[in-house]
Amino acid sequence: MNNLPGILAASLALLLFISSSAAEEISEGDCAACHAAISGEWRSSLHAAAYSSPAFQQKLKESAAAGNSSCGCHTPAALPPGYLGREPAARAEAPERGVDCLACHMDSSLTAWSSGEERYVPHWTRQEKIYSSAAFCGGCHVWGRDSGYDCQTCHMPRVEGGPDDGPRIGRTAGAMHASHRWVGSRDPELLSGAAELEVLRHGDSLQVTVSSLLSAHYFPQTRHRLLKVAALAGGGPIWESDLRLAPDSTAKFSVALPENLPGLRVELRFYPVPEVQTDSFYVIRRQAIE
Ligand code: HEC
Ligand code: HEC
Ligand code: HEC
Ligand code: HEC
Repeated sequence: MNNLPGILAASLALLLFISSSAAEEISEGDCAACHAAISGEWRSSLHAAAYSSPAFQQKLKESAAAGNSSCGCHTPAALPPGYLGREPAARAEAPERGVDCLACHMDSSLTAWSSGEERYVPHWTRQEKIYSSAAFCGGCHVWGRDSGYDCQTCHMPRVEGGPDDGPRIGRTAGAMHASHRWVGSRDPELLSGAAELEVLRHGDSLQVTVSSLLSAHYFPQTRHRLLKVAALAGGGPIWESDLRLAPDSTAKFSVALPENLPGLRVELRFYPVPEVQTDSFYVIRRQAIE
């Protein structure tokens, strides 16, 4: 009976779950009892900060001043069943929780909807294939609705650890789950796969080609990020240009160099928060030219 402590702990977690739902004040913290890893990932994501982020707070002020009401995307009511793949209604309570577990997964009877199979786990789950497709994300990221590209492949990659890590019997070794960090503009690895740079020099002229490797959306997708290509010699830039690449597109530049310039380098840079940190950037590609 060496599983007894595990069984007791699991029952306790279930009791907590039930008692908090009875109090109607159930939150992401209740999910963390059994989904600690996923909760930790979610907390570091922009979905968790969708309402509290300074950028959104600023927008809220501006739209209130202009008399506009905001959409429910930053403080959504429960998506299942009525709002899957559609722009959600706004919820009145606890806006600071942003886009949380309950909003994306739970209906009013506390059944968790996802792409997984239907069972009792110890809460009911219900299968809805839309969770694995762009249509799900497109309820809020409306531009992506009909893109036909699977957003989850890049933004919710499979990572180590099971989908639950609560006190539970029979956990599977080597289990994986879909990452809830929603890596994006803050992930150097994902960024480095998003574009290519090719530079050729003919005497005093430089041919610079930047190609998007993204088929699903623009790079950068949102206008508050910045992509820049710059030629640098000695201490600083001798030429630079901002760019925004359409899916799978290529941008070509022809640059006249100062006479007899010995060597230079060209950098493709991504600025995640150009309005606040003007000098903070990732170098996505760098090429040295003789
Ligand atoms: C008492 C423990 C417990 C609590 C509390 C709990 N869950 Fe779960 N949940 C589980 C277990 C166990 C599974 C099954 C995981 C597996 O497949 O191994 C699961 C599965 C899920 C699934 C996926 C179903 C699938 O197969 O794809 C979702 C979504 C989910 N839970 C959401 C939530 C949310 C949201 C909360 C908080 C409101 C929550 N859970 C609270 C134990 C719990
Ligand atoms: C209920 C609405 C909603 C749904 C559904 C939704 N998102 Fe978001 N998402 C948001 C909001 C709001 C933000 C914050 C945007 C901001 O403030 O700039 C965000 C931010 C993001 C970011 C930015 C992360 C970063 O680091 O910059 C990514 C990536 C993202 N979402 C991907 C997805 C994907 C993929 C899906 C589908 C699996 C999805 N979202 C579903 C509302 C939603
Ligand atoms: C923006 C919406 C969104 C939010 C917020 C969200 N999830 Fe998910 N979750 C998804 C999607 C989409 C999938 C399915 C991914 C796939 O099929 O590739 C998923 C999958 C899951 C799974 C199954 C994982 C697996 O790989 O088997 C669990 C468990 C889960 N979520 C729990 C949670 C918990 C707990 C929270 C809060 C900490 C949460 N989710 C927040 C959208 C969301
Ligand atoms: C091939 C991988 C890939 C696919 C597929 C993909 N994305 Fe992205 N996405 C990226 C990369 C790389 C970035 C970061 C560069 C940028 O901001 O454009 C990004 C950025 C984003 C951002 C903005 C992050 C921010 O804060 O500026 C959102 C939102 C987003 N993606 C949503 C989606 C949605 C929705 C889909 C599905 C329709 C999708 N992505 C499909 C790779 C991908």
